[in-house]
Amino acid sequence: METVVSGIRSTGNLHLGNYFGAIKNFLKMQKENRCFFFIADYHSLTTHPTPEDLHGSVRKVLSEYLACGMDPEAATIFLQSDVPEVTELYLLLNMNAYIGELERTTTFKDKVRLQPGNVNAGLLTYPVLMAADIIIHKAHKVPVGKDQEQNLEMTRKFAKRFNRMYKVDYFPEPSAYNFGQALIKIPGLDGTGKMGKTEGNGIFLVDSPDEILKKVMKAVTDSGPVKKNQTPSGPIQNLFTIMDAVSSAETVTFFKEKYANCTIRYGDLKKQLAEDIIGFTTPIRKKIEAISADPDYLRKVVREGAEKARASAAQTIKDVREIIGYKPF
Ligand code: TRP
Repeated sequence: METVVSGIRSTGNLHLGNYFGAIKNFLKMQKENRCFFFIADYHSLTTHPTPEDLHGSVRKVLSEYLACGMDPEAATIFLQSDVPEVTELYLLLNMNAYIGELERTTTFKDKVRLQPGNVNAGLLTYPVLMAADIIIHKAHKVPVGKDQEQNLEMTRKFAKRFNRMYKVDYFPEPSAYNFGQALIKIPGLDGTGKMGKTEGNGIFLVDSPDEILKKVMKAVTDSGPVKKNQTPSGPIQNLFTIMDAVSSAETVTFFKEKYANCTIRYGDLKKQLAEDIIGFTTPIRKKIEAISADPDYLRKVVREGAEKARASAAQTIKDVREIIGYKPF
C-alpha cells in the first residue's frame, strides 16, 4: 500500500472548488492508501496569527474536512503541531538546505513580493518544513495543486540529498499526485478564473441557502445566445461547469438544450443552479455545525490522529538519528 501525505492550510472556509478539486479525491484516496492528512498549523505561523485566530482557524478547517467525509478511521488525521518529531526532522534537514536554493523558490519570492514587511526565516525554510512533513512518513505520493509542485521538487531534492550524503536508500522520493481526469476545476461566479477563497467569487460550504441564492443570482452572465448551437461564452460555460458538478444529468441537458436553441432564460438557469448547490451543501453545512459544536468528538479525533502520526514519525526519527550518527552510548 502506498503512503500518501497531504497538508492542509488553515485559512478561510472551504468552498465548492476545494470540495470538487481536492476533498473528493482525498475521500477516494483514504480508502485505497495509507493516508496522512494534517492541518499545517506550524506553517500558518509565518503570517503571525493571534492565538485566538490560530486556534479558531484550525478548529474550523478540521470540522469542515470531517464534515465532508474525511474519515479518522480510514486515514490518520492530525495537527502538524501535535507531532514534535516533525520539528526535529526539520532542524536536521535545514543543515543541508542551502540559502540560495531556498531564496530561488517561487513561493518564497511571491511572499517577499506580497509581504515585504514580514520576510521571516520561517518563510525561507517553508519548503524544508514541508519536506519534513512528507518524508517523516516516507510518503510516496503527495496530492497537491500546481502551485505546490516546486515545493515538492524541493522535497525530492532534500530526500535524495539525505540518501546520497549518508549512502543509504532510506527516504523514498515522493511524487506529486494530481488526479488527471478526475481533477475538476470549479470556476468562480465572476466570470473569470477558478473559484477562490478571497476573490469573492466563491460559494462556501457553510453559506446559508439565502447567501447561496444571492451569490448565484449575481453571477456574471452575458446578453444571451443569438445563434443556434453557438459555443457558450466563458461566464456561461462556468455556470454549466458548476452545474455539471452539483446537478443531475437531466437538468444539465435540459438547460444546454435551451441554450442551444436560444430559449434559455438565465434567471431560470441560476435559480435551478442555486437550488442544486443548496441541495448539495445543506447536509455538509449541517454536519459542520454539529461537529464544531462537539468538542469531545474533535478532541478524540485529534488525540487519536496524533498518536498514530507520532508512532510513524518517531520510527523515522529513530532511524534518521542513527543514520546521521547520533548513536546510543
Ligand atoms: N504548502 C502546502 C499549501 O500551501 C501545505 C502543506 C504543508 C503541505 N505541508 C505539506 C502539502 C505537506 C502537502 C504536503 O497548500
